[in-house]
Amino acid sequence: MQAATEMFTVTPLSLDLLTDPLEFVGKKPMDSGCNGSAGHENGNTVFDFSVLRDVRPCRSDSEERSLADIAASPRFGRPLETVRSSDCLEGLLNSPSMRSTMDTPRSERFPSFEPHPMFAEAWDLLRKSLVMFRGKPVGTIAASDHSEEALNYDQVFVRDFVPSALAFLMNGEPEIVKNFLLKALRLQSNWEKRIDNFTLGKGAMPASFKVLHDPIRNNDKIMADFGESAIGRVAPVDSGFWWIILLRAYTKSTGDQSLAEMPDCQRGIRLVLSLCLSEGFDTFPTLLCADGCCMVDRRMGIYGYPIEIQALFYMALRCAKLMLKPEGDGEELLERVEKRLQALNYHIRSYFWLDFEQLNNVYRYKTEEYSHTAVNKFNVIPDSIPDWVFDFMPMKGGYFIGNVSPARMDFRWFCLGNCIAILSSLATHEQEMGIMDLLEERWPDLIGEMPLKIAYPALEGHEWKIVTGCDPKNTRWSYHNGGSWPVLIWLFTAACIKTGRPHMARKAMELLESRLSKDHWPEYYDGTFGRYIGKQARKHQTWSIAGYLVAKMMLEDPSHLGMISIEDDRKTKAPSMPRSASSMF
Ligand code: GLC
Repeated sequence: MQAATEMFTVTPLSLDLLTDPLEFVGKKPMDSGCNGSAGHENGNTVFDFSVLRDVRPCRSDSEERSLADIAASPRFGRPLETVRSSDCLEGLLNSPSMRSTMDTPRSERFPSFEPHPMFAEAWDLLRKSLVMFRGKPVGTIAASDHSEEALNYDQVFVRDFVPSALAFLMNGEPEIVKNFLLKALRLQSNWEKRIDNFTLGKGAMPASFKVLHDPIRNNDKIMADFGESAIGRVAPVDSGFWWIILLRAYTKSTGDQSLAEMPDCQRGIRLVLSLCLSEGFDTFPTLLCADGCCMVDRRMGIYGYPIEIQALFYMALRCAKLMLKPEGDGEELLERVEKRLQALNYHIRSYFWLDFEQLNNVYRYKTEEYSHTAVNKFNVIPDSIPDWVFDFMPMKGGYFIGNVSPARMDFRWFCLGNCIAILSSLATHEQEMGIMDLLEERWPDLIGEMPLKIAYPALEGHEWKIVTGCDPKNTRWSYHNGGSWPVLIWLFTAACIKTGRPHMARKAMELLESRLSKDHWPEYYDGTFGRYIGKQARKHQTWSIAGYLVAKMMLEDPSHLGMISIEDDRKTKAPSMPRSASSMF
């Protein structure tokens, strides 16, 4: 925390973040039923009654600082030089984040924290990546690489901002996170979301947004992308989930409930939920998605029920359950959330889980079974099991496979979904241990020389042609197709801490620190061991920088884990019943 001698003030929420229609570009703001303008309720201005002190030093509005000032200023947030172990112990005892330690195991004593030179560099780069909207930071740019065509890497991506946000929260700088959450919320409800003649769901959150500065009017405007400009027109299904998860992280870290309790935030949560809890023709509780709907935002054969989305869906439902107020139809919605959590929990724990024993079961599956007594419920044909998985599967360990649907099990390993399954306690304790065992047993394949593999193994040859549509960016062992993404270190580290294996995170961290800064913080690495800087990887990729910072800060102070982890709650435990007998209940 900032030195206690500094003056702090509780500032009213900046209303221009919420109300000014001039911020929108190219689209007219929709007159949605959003209580008139956000920031106003029943005609009254809603102020942000932050319970906790605002970490900004006291200053007048006319003193808004420029981006350069902020990057350079030691007064903004917590100066790097003050990050010391002793300080952190004090911080741990006094900071609001201590609340998040209550359900967090402190598995072992952590060695004193001597910041690596990269740590200071990373903070400097993270501050330089801040995107300002009317003098206030509202996000971080995806990449600051001027040697490559920007495409949309000059935008603030919702998913990319999550590690940046966590770094700021961990450093006692919640205001930027609050600004971002409100900005994304505003875009969700006040943007006309159309692709050609088709209007997207009200709850959809943007994949990314860009701030445009108009030098003539000296004004900033926002341009958002809900998939209508994205390459392949992919839908960012994960954005709404990340938004909810981040809102809970903010609340947990600051102790400030007032943001989540704001009517507009409550409405935002409901809108996301109504998108994913709506009734359809589904026979499964998992969410049906198109290809490229998440971090893997190109065609990669993840259409159907990808584990990344299912785990984020589960985590978001658990976070929403903690924040939704039971007023109005809230009670009924909370019941629907609870029912879906239980159904998801059972389905994913039972059908997505693969270990040696289960692989052996699938290998011996009978097919064409009809009726409730079927063991092979999805009619998976054993011949469809790829050869690699027999060798890959260790005797000890297991994981949630990539996708499950009729006659289809995608046996690929996806890192993000498995880490989120641990953090959300979607995985049982045994499954959590199994995932960590697998990572330990298959270290060269899944961590290699540069953490961590986004997916394993790569699609090659004919399969690559058919599944990716001959995508030249996703050739074997590159990018989403078996590439290694440094950003994943934060999720891996969080999972290691939750399962009491921080030594694994430290080992991965050593690999990362040996190259990441020297290589100028690339977006991803290529090759079976992640040895080569990615063919088309951007340099100075912000989430590679922020992911490193978050992992580093969590290793130093594991109490931060509480922001992004939720313990199992007994109500959502899957009933113990044989896999073939669920329909009897
Ligand atoms: C790439 C990644 C995507 C990320 C974006 C911005 O498209 O696949 O996950 O959000 O870059 O960094």
